[in-house]
Amino acid sequence: MNKSEGFVPAERGEHALPCLSGRGVTRVFGTGAKATVAVDHVDFDFHEGEFVSIVGESGSGKTTLSKMLLGLLSVTEGEISFQGKPRDISTRRRRREYWQGIQAIFQDPYSSFNTFHKIDAVLLDCIAMRGGRHLPMEKKREMMAEACGFVNLKFEELTNKYPFELSGGQMQRLMIARIFLLRPRILLADEPTSMIDACSRSTILDMLLNLRNETGMTIIFITHDIGLAYYTSDSVYIMEHGRFVESGSAHDVILHPKAEYTRRLISDVPKIYEPWDLSTV
Ligand SMILES: Nc1ncnc2c1ncn2[C@@H]1O[C@H](COP(=O)(O)OP(=O)(O)OP(=O)(O)O)[C@@H](O)[C@H]1O
Ligand SMILES: [Mg+2]
Repeated sequence: MNKSEGFVPAERGEHALPCLSGRGVTRVFGTGAKATVAVDHVDFDFHEGEFVSIVGESGSGKTTLSKMLLGLLSVTEGEISFQGKPRDISTRRRRREYWQGIQAIFQDPYSSFNTFHKIDAVLLDCIAMRGGRHLPMEKKREMMAEACGFVNLKFEELTNKYPFELSGGQMQRLMIARIFLLRPRILLADEPTSMIDACSRSTILDMLLNLRNETGMTIIFITHDIGLAYYTSDSVYIMEHGRFVESGSAHDVILHPKAEYTRRLISDVPKIYEPWDLSTV
């Protein structure tokens, strides 16, 4: 796995505009004594082509934040900006426009597909969403085959199948094939590897890195595993009880942690500083 093979991110100096940023972003569930502050005044700047990880333990607010980023959950307080302007998802049309720019893959791939749609239909939908509805069928097949090839799936073996006929790992890859066709500027991946074995996990992470390296897509990777964040990311945000306790380059945050919480997450990953020695496994 190589973090930055092929892709040279745009200059990230003071003048580079973040593609997605937030100031004081907060989400409270419930009211009064029963209120839960799931995300508590977080600030962030995600740049074009950046591989960003948001790392925290269960219940730290990662999924709540991702749902707000996607516009699936309202923000109680604070502001999210998209491509340098305050995000506007106030109407159906604006939301659809926003979703052309940001897409997600989730923990459970089975929940992301309509069980009654064959795989061909799922992929054809993606082509239609990118304005390719009227392309000749020949061209559409070519695009679907290319997308499947990108994730090492054979299109001929998938056509006429339903999503539930695939294995968990194949489903995860199909989700990435969808993203390959949709080409959003930003991909949010909420623990996409938690349901699969270690081998498929590294394949999926490699595919996400390839996607970033080939297309310059910004990838926001949500995980509880600081080890995975270290191996994949340019920058890292560490989340505890709804707050970012530390953020910066993956190198600085993970090799020179300042917050006690970050040190604790690292101590759960025994071999983070050393190359893996397979002979001892
Ligand atoms: N719809 C909801 N109503 C009430 N409380 C909620 C709701 N969704 C999340 N919460 C609470 O917000 C907090 C953060 O939850 P969230 O799902 O964002 O955590 P997470 O970091 O994604 O955890 P995990 O790693 O287990 O997926 C938790 O205390 C959770 O109980
Ligand atoms: Mg979650």
